[in-house]
Amino acid sequence: MPTNAMEYRRLGPSGLRVSVLSFGSWVTFDTQLGDDTALECMQAAHDAGCNFFDNAEAYAGGKSEEQMGRVLRQLGWPRYSYVVTTKVFWGLHQKTVNMGHTLNRKYLMHAIDGSLERFGLDFVDVLYCHRSDPNTPIEETVFAMHDIISAGKAHYWGTSEWSADEIRTAIDLAERHHLHKPITEQSQYNLLERRKVEREYTRLIDDHQYGNTTWSPLASGLLTGKYRDGIPEGSRGALEGYEWLQSRLTDAEALAKIERLRPIADEFGCSMAQLAIAWCARNPAVSSVITGASRVQQVQENFDALDVIPLITDEVDDRMRAAVR
Ligand SMILES: NC(=O)c1ccc[n+]([C@@H]2O[C@H](COP(=O)([O-])OP(=O)(O)OC[C@H]3O[C@@H](n4cnc5c(N)ncnc54)[C@H](OP(=O)(O)O)[C@@H]3O)[C@@H](O)[C@H]2O)c1
Repeated sequence: MPTNAMEYRRLGPSGLRVSVLSFGSWVTFDTQLGDDTALECMQAAHDAGCNFFDNAEAYAGGKSEEQMGRVLRQLGWPRYSYVVTTKVFWGLHQKTVNMGHTLNRKYLMHAIDGSLERFGLDFVDVLYCHRSDPNTPIEETVFAMHDIISAGKAHYWGTSEWSADEIRTAIDLAERHHLHKPITEQSQYNLLERRKVEREYTRLIDDHQYGNTTWSPLASGLLTGKYRDGIPEGSRGALEGYEWLQSRLTDAEALAKIERLRPIADEFGCSMAQLAIAWCARNPAVSSVITGASRVQQVQENFDALDVIPLITDEVDDRMRAAVR
């Protein structure tokens, strides 16, 4: 267990507070984890103060939402005590016109009902548009997301990997029509991928306090240093169906950068994973770092990164940036 208490940050301009370290289910739920291990992982995160659990319609073709729903029922935590989020865009019926790769009103209305049914929940706390859709007017999406919130099926809404321009357009439209505005992005952010959070969104954050619940803090495990000698058995890189990740996980240039971080982790007596996660959480533009894990020991190790956050001073940050430059 970490010595430091969990920090809870406001999610963008909203009053909702989320733990700075959170837990998501991409790749792992249903694919790598049975219900027992998924429960152990969520319990371990919760024990460390995590109040935010992320999911998506597309994860494991809907089975990830089903598994998280079953586990939440087994855990029996009061619904008011945690935040569950999901994301929609790709659809589960992609061959049907209107039902995949879209944010049209018809799809969104079916998608939220499908997610709630799979979870066995009455509402999700935040519903994200998992990608932007150039083929649907943003106005149509904003009105539909507003109506989903007004119907009590979600409390807030957000975007994932939208451009700053698209987000600003959505906020402007919502303001003009007195609709619920999106409050947070969900973008990739880690030591190897910093552009959106550190450059593209800066004005949006200044103007609108837009939140960001960031993903892949370990670049799918690469930043743990465990791919130094090739793809280890039992790792994400070795999973069937994720061959597309292999070239990234074995990229010589990236691996060399990561090895330059190792002495800094050694100096602090922490793991490379903890250093990388703490570095993300240190950024005030980050509302929550969504972590992922394929076993409970990883959850425990990753949430212990809470103790590493205060060690990353400006000087250490400079050294880390220099290492991965
Ligand atoms: N909005 C989006 O488009 C989007 C996209 C991706 C993810 N997400 C969200 O972000 C969450 C986190 O993303 P992610 O899973 O890619 O995060 P990540 O932290 O980059 O990768 C997590 C994976 O790294 C390995 N790992 C984690 N901790 C470790 C440790 N201490 N030591 C060794 N290996 C470790 C595990 O895989 P193995 O053990 O299998 O190697 C684990 O599943 C997702 O669950 C999802 O909720 C959102």
